[in-house]
Amino acid sequence: MLFMRDKLGRKINYMRISVTDRCNLFCLYCKKEKLSFKPPEEILRYEEILRVARIAISLGISKIRITGGEPLVRKGITGFVSELSSLPGLEDISLTTNGILLAEFAKPLYKAGLKRINVSLDTLKREKFKDITGEDEFGNVWKGIENVLAAGMNPVKINVVLLKGINEDEAADFVALTKDERITVRFIELMPLGIQRENNRKLFVSLDEVLKNLKNIYEMKVYDSGNNLGPATYYRVKNCGLVGFIGSISGCFCGDCNRLRLTASGYLKPCLWSDKAVNIKEILRAGAPDAEIAEILRKAIREKPAEREINKKVSFPMSEAGG
Ligand code: 5AD
Repeated sequence: MLFMRDKLGRKINYMRISVTDRCNLFCLYCKKEKLSFKPPEEILRYEEILRVARIAISLGISKIRITGGEPLVRKGITGFVSELSSLPGLEDISLTTNGILLAEFAKPLYKAGLKRINVSLDTLKREKFKDITGEDEFGNVWKGIENVLAAGMNPVKINVVLLKGINEDEAADFVALTKDERITVRFIELMPLGIQRENNRKLFVSLDEVLKNLKNIYEMKVYDSGNNLGPATYYRVKNCGLVGFIGSISGCFCGDCNRLRLTASGYLKPCLWSDKAVNIKEILRAGAPDAEIAEILRKAIREKPAEREINKKVSFPMSEAGG
């Protein structure tokens, strides 16, 4: 199998593609001003993204995740998923969504070839959902999760960012959701990134702490399926299902990082924690041949930092880079 390695020997086979910087939620740890989204001409067209994806696959990318902003707000997303999933050589395609539009999209996305989905959901309480996201949409997200399960996507991963004094008391309730074995819950540590980075430091909850508390309630055993790639450490919870912990701050997964990001406006970002970005849109729009596009992809990988710098002021918005 062909793949790219960076200068440290890390195998780069995973690309996260943000298809839009727009979002229909304004979560307190990420939000942008409502009018600050980029004009459409600055956002890569689907044909452009598909071209980059095809070339990246020829270099060894075999897994792609579609992110945003909120990917389901972009027109034509189902058709895009369908074209992406028909690219030869792509072994795994998944999507991260806030779930608001999922109820209507679940079946069409499944038919378009999407077999795995992650839903971001930080609370199980309607009022709190509104406090965190700015919108009264909990019911729609829940309906979306039900429809995705009904459509046959299994498991559905629910991503939960725990926030100090806001939803940290809900960890046990989220674990209980995994009694339905088709649901996997993953807790994610809040990262000080984007325009909310300073406030996010104050809202940070350490997952070590959360795990300790959960172990007082549940019997939990570390679970290793043998192919647990990615940053989550999983536990099998007695009488429940699988729960993952992504300690983005208290842990460091840089040594195993296999990712490259393509932002909505056409930058290749080799690391979420760095403002370093390689402009691929310019060269795409200048009519460059595939070989030149491939060289830009290699350049981005060459520039992948060895390790993230948590204390750096990263200003690149999450809503554009994809969480
Ligand atoms: N820290 C941690 N997770 C974040 N996400 C967005 N911003 C942050 C942040 N600052 C999460 C979303 C979603 C995933 C795509 O990224 O909640 O689950």
